[in-house]
Amino acid sequence: MPRVEVIKPEFVARIEGVDLRIRISDADFEAICEAFSHHAVLVFPSQDLTDDQQIAFAERFGPLESSVRRHRERNIENPHMSDLTNVDPATGGLLDDNSEAMSYNLGNQLWHSDSSFKKVPAQFSMLSGREVPPEGAETEFADTRAAWEALDSDRQAWLESQTAMHSLAHSRGLMGYDASEKFLSEEKNEVPPVAQPMMFRNANTGRKALYVGSHAFEIVGMDADDGYQLIKGLVEHATQPQFTYAHAWQRYDLVMWDNRASLHRGRPWDTQRYRRVMRRTTVAGRESAAA
Ligand code: OGA
Ligand code: MN
Repeated sequence: MPRVEVIKPEFVARIEGVDLRIRISDADFEAICEAFSHHAVLVFPSQDLTDDQQIAFAERFGPLESSVRRHRERNIENPHMSDLTNVDPATGGLLDDNSEAMSYNLGNQLWHSDSSFKKVPAQFSMLSGREVPPEGAETEFADTRAAWEALDSDRQAWLESQTAMHSLAHSRGLMGYDASEKFLSEEKNEVPPVAQPMMFRNANTGRKALYVGSHAFEIVGMDADDGYQLIKGLVEHATQPQFTYAHAWQRYDLVMWDNRASLHRGRPWDTQRYRRVMRRTTVAGRESAAA
């Protein structure tokens, strides 16, 4: 049976004693799901997975999303896998920081919930550290359930009836990537701005979570700048130290998180010195985050 070791109570746990290269038993899978309902982030150390093994494990949670970047030249063929790396698929060398891919990936360094810019946002993400730098490049997580519960009840009641607009072009623009110039027409068509509720309630646990992040840029029905300031204040609230955890990667860690119970961001590293090769599978949402 998997052993659950709590790292940060009700938020992060480490799961030992499972081999995700093989199809684990239903009982083991249930034990992982149980741990995942309490902890929004699970760390599985020492999982040296192939892409197919990672996909097979991820698919037990539900259908996978396709990567928005699947039309580009990448290090992987499978459209269900996201390629987060500084390795150039054409040469095998390090990508230049000014390259389109590196400039795009920089957006991951802002606090976000994966694909909140899609009409039906992602449910779970699984990130596999295939090659990790010896320093930097941590991934930080913030507990948006605890952050929600720390808001006063008037603010909670107000947020429950609000929606915010989310857009990939917006968040990329914050790090200097001009989507109007660089997005392919397929990408533009796939990700127009969408409205999302500002609170997500998990139907299984009943717990509520704040739903914001770097893709959100406006609150519907509010002055654009006032709404944006409010969104930024909520992200700041949710990412205070008492709500966060920094994961320092070991090679072959698999880290899985609930995008509707957490925010995350990548931290910088020396991209011109160290290779970083990460593969992500993303379990699609089954319904709109709208209650
Ligand atoms: C992601 C992501 C951050 C990182 O995989 O969705 O945002 O540290 N990753 O690579
Ligand atoms: Mn992400």
